[in-house]
Formats: sequence, structure tokens, C-alpha cells
Amino acid sequence: MPVSAPDVIARESWFDVDTGQLDRRIFSDQQIYQEELKKIFARAWNFMCHESQIPDPGSFFLNRIGEDHVIVVRDRKNQVQVLLNSCAHRGNTVCRAEQGKTRSFFCSYHGWNYDLDGKLLAIPGEKDFYRNDVDKEALGLTKAAQVSSYKGFVFATLDAAAPPLEEYLGWVGRLGIDSIAARGEIEVVDGIQKNRVRCNWKLAVDNLFDWYHPKVTHGSAIRTGVMSEADMYPMNQMVMLGEYGHAIGGPGVSEEKQAQLEEKFHGKNQSDSADRRDYHNAWKTSHKAREILGPVGVRSRGHPNIFPNLWITLGGTQACLRIPCGPLETELWWFTFAEKSMSPAARRDLIQAATHFFGPAGLLEQDDGENWSHSTRASIGTVTGNRPVQLTMGQGHDEVKLDPSGQSSIETVVNEHAQRWTYRSWQEWMKADSWEALIENHSPAPSGVI
Ligand code: FES
Ligand SMILES: [Fe+2]
Repeated sequence: MPVSAPDVIARESWFDVDTGQLDRRIFSDQQIYQEELKKIFARAWNFMCHESQIPDPGSFFLNRIGEDHVIVVRDRKNQVQVLLNSCAHRGNTVCRAEQGKTRSFFCSYHGWNYDLDGKLLAIPGEKDFYRNDVDKEALGLTKAAQVSSYKGFVFATLDAAAPPLEEYLGWVGRLGIDSIAARGEIEVVDGIQKNRVRCNWKLAVDNLFDWYHPKVTHGSAIRTGVMSEADMYPMNQMVMLGEYGHAIGGPGVSEEKQAQLEEKFHGKNQSDSADRRDYHNAWKTSHKAREILGPVGVRSRGHPNIFPNLWITLGGTQACLRIPCGPLETELWWFTFAEKSMSPAARRDLIQAATHFFGPAGLLEQDDGENWSHSTRASIGTVTGNRPVQLTMGQGHDEVKLDPSGQSSIETVVNEHAQRWTYRSWQEWMKADSWEALIENHSPAPSGVI
């Protein structure tokens, strides 16, 4: 584990918003990482699961908030609880199955038993060993400070001072989730794909806005014919920036192209579209999609990131958590969403496409992971770590346009606006000592030339 350089944590700034230069040490420094756990993950609203994963009382799903392990569980009153997965006695994990259904959480060390809402129900030897001198009321599992759900997506925060979820998400964060929810009644396909990459979590996050790399990094995938350069619309990109670091970046289609697509798919059963490439365009052409996503949002084919680490993929069929495991390692968790109304054939097709592109067996993330690992490694070196990262593309050349609907966007060529926005916001989170300070000092969404 690399030791912190003495001055890294104290630096006035790690990201120069005027020049787009980023300090590479933030990808490997241990102290920076510890601060991120405290100031970003323990403070933010973190995605936990989709409600379809915990349908009944007792259904649970294990997740993480930074390095805090949590159980997301539906209790006997049908309320969703987010409980820290650590026994009040000696800290052992009280639930080890990644998901399932249970009547209580039984600690495998000495047998303390907890109810679905975290209440301590019983402890072995309460009378004989503890002489009835235990305050069970005070020894329940720790609960997340707030739990809330937006359109079936459950989030939790460990900070009681966090603003309400919908306010936190803002229109850009909500649009990210809407781009999945607008497909209709959806559910998570059973089986979350998980794998680890030897990289800093932020490199996996900023890459989702990077539409500069596919032609090179994924050149071999392009040659197989599963995707084409034209699908990436490098000359037609659309970026949306929201408060607290939420952003959407990637291809966009013009109003004219959108109108053509609406005509092409009018009246068609979109989820059963035989052509996967068309599917991604098809479902965004209904009247309902326009209503939910807004006149600008409906034209975006880009990738939303809900700050800090929830990526929603093109087409709204998958979401991926980039979970930190130390500064040098990241766990990727892939959730795939299917419409409940899909025919078995269309569902099979969607799952096949999902596993074909991303996840441990996907064509694309193998390529990406190599690059992120090597960029992380270069941030450790005595000399290489001192050379800043360049995030300058498009800076000063584009303009944020505000639509009468209130949705603002930058429509341009391939660029690094969303990456700059991510690191600018990240820095604001890291410099704030509380939610109060972050609310006071964070940048509002930009306007004008950017
Ligand atoms: S650590 Fe859980 S019962 Fe002792
Ligand atoms: Fe990639």
C-alpha cells in the first residue's frame, strides 16, 4: 500500500478548474482515500438496490457504502431498512449470503439474534452469563441515517444532515434513473455480476463519460462488428451537468434525427424489437418517454453517473456500481434491468447483450480495466505520480444551452466536460467539512461558455 506523500492531503487544490490539470496522487494516496470514505461515501446518498430485489418481508440484499457493509432488508412492516452488517457484540458480520430471504439475522460468532428492523431479539446466556444485565434496546444493529426510494431505486445515506434524496439527485440525477424507469415496469434480472479491477474507483467512474477512447481501446470489439464507430456519434455529443457532481455524457441525437426515429418506431412494440441496436433508440421514441425524460433528455443516448459511483448504461438496461476497495482496487457490480412485460425471447436477448458487453465476461470492460489499472499504477511512481493528468478537451470551446423546459445541455463533439465536472465536484465534496458546508459552497450547474 503506498504511503501518503506528506503534502498530498493538505494541498490547496488537486484539480485546477481553470487549466484542467488533475493531480494523479488522488488515484493512489491512502489518506485521500480515507477522506473519500468519510467525506464522500459516508455523506452521499448511495444506491442500494432496486425494490424488485427485496419483494417480501425478510427479503434482503447485501451492499456497501464505501467500506461499510450493509444489509438492505424489507422488515415485517414492509419498510425498507438499511442496517450495518456488524454485530453489536464483537463486530462480526451477521449476514453472509449476498441475497435471500430470512426471518432474522443470527450472528455466527456467539449467537446474538437480530430482527429484520435491526432490533436485538435474543442473546445466548442472557440470564446465566450476563445476569440479566444487558440493555438489549441499545444494542440493535446500527441503521443508515436515512433511507429513501426514487421510482423503485433504493438509496441510503449515513449522514442525517443529507438533503432529501430527490433534492440530492436534482434533475440530472433523476433523469439518469428515469432513463431506466421510463421503459415501463422493470425488475432486476436475478444474479448481480461482480468482479474486481486493480484500479482506483474514480478512473472507472470518469471513463463512463469518455467517448474519446472507444475507437482505440475497443478497436478489436469494433472489428468484430458488435458495435460501430457510427453508433458513438463522436461528432454529436450531449453533456448535462447537475449539482453535487451528477452528470450525463455521451452521444445525443438532434431534434431532426429524433423526429425521424419517432416516425420509424411509431406504434411498434419497442421492447420486442428484433434489432438490439434499434432497441436503444426505439424505447426513447414513445410519447411517454418524451413526457418522462423531457424534450432534451429524450435525445440523450449518453451515460448518466449518479455521484459518486452509480453508472447507468446506454439504453438504460444496466447499472453498475464502482465500489472502492482501497485506493488501488475497485469492485464492479452489474445490475441488469428487464421490463416485466418482455417476451421470453426479448428478455433472453437483452441479457445476452448485457453480458456480452460488460461484466467479467464482457467484451468492453476487459479492455477498459487494463487501461484503468495502468493509469492507477502510474499514480504511485515517484516521478510519474507528479505529472498531472490532462483533462482539457473542449475547455472554453462550448456553451451550455438552457432549454425552456429547464433542461440545460452542451451539444458538441467528443469532449471532457463531464470529467472536469466530476473532479471539480469531487474536490468540493473533499473540501467541505459537513453537508451544511457542501450545500453552501458547491458549484451551481454551469451556464454560458464552459
Ligand atoms: S460477535 Fe456477534 S454474537 Fe459475538
Ligand atoms: Fe470503454
